[in-house]
Amino acid sequence: MDMLSAIDARHSCRTYFKSHIKQDYIDELVELIDKFNKETGLNIQFILNDSDPFGGLKSYGIFKGVNNYIAFVGKDTDIMREKAGYYGEALVLKAVQMGLGTCWVSGTYSPKKSKIEVEKGEKLFCVVTIGNGKESTTAMCKLNKVFLPKKKSIEKLYEFSQTPPAWFLSGVEAASKAPSSMNKMPTRFIYSRGEVSAYVQDYSLNAIDLGIAKLHFEIGAGQGKWQFGNYGKLENQD
Ligand SMILES: Cc1cc2nc3c(=O)[nH]c(=O)nc-3n(C[C@H](O)[C@H](O)[C@H](O)COP(=O)(O)O)c2cc1C
Repeated sequence: MDMLSAIDARHSCRTYFKSHIKQDYIDELVELIDKFNKETGLNIQFILNDSDPFGGLKSYGIFKGVNNYIAFVGKDTDIMREKAGYYGEALVLKAVQMGLGTCWVSGTYSPKKSKIEVEKGEKLFCVVTIGNGKESTTAMCKLNKVFLPKKKSIEKLYEFSQTPPAWFLSGVEAASKAPSSMNKMPTRFIYSRGEVSAYVQDYSLNAIDLGIAKLHFEIGAGQGKWQFGNYGKLENQD
């Protein structure tokens, strides 16, 4: 499965089988996490066999069978949050290619009950649950479908001062399939004078969503590499 197909196949999975993740997959994900930590200074942690943070009231009726998660920890800055989104979504799409289920989680779990290690000066941004996914049938998943906003059409996600090329639109289309907190899809892409940039209204609040959407854009566009930061530009485009 290539990355574009992984984008299409991904959806938030909130119910998991008890079975363990294959050791080969764990090894591959650990290797990728080590690489990303070296590259970014993030302190991403892969925690296996720990269901405690998902056993309390905050997760009740939302998550079932969560036993593994990836924690995103780093220096408490917005850029680090954005990097957690960008590199975290790369891990999510890798997991989808392995046939695993995932869900980004920032609110509906109990971090204090977790085995995550947060050093002085660091912050736990959020986690991604991971495992052999089942179709989610919990009550809250059904309610989510009714109450969370629907995905936005791609026209609502970009601005332009001249007609954008097809690759830009492919990038926006891939970004329209990105997960976001409460499905709010806060990221907007701009095509102006041949340059591409991306922004969110409230960077502190939406930096993780911005990082996730930027990675999807890059994969969909098939070119360019983002500068991190709000209003960061796409570099090395054709
Ligand atoms: C940063 C972030 C935080 C999220 N936090 C939660 C959460 O606390 N609980 C939850 O059930 N889903 C959470 N989600 C999942 C979103 O609700 C989900 O991505 C969105 O509704 C779109 O659905 P999809 O992922 O199936 O496309 C979060 C997603 C992101 C990106």
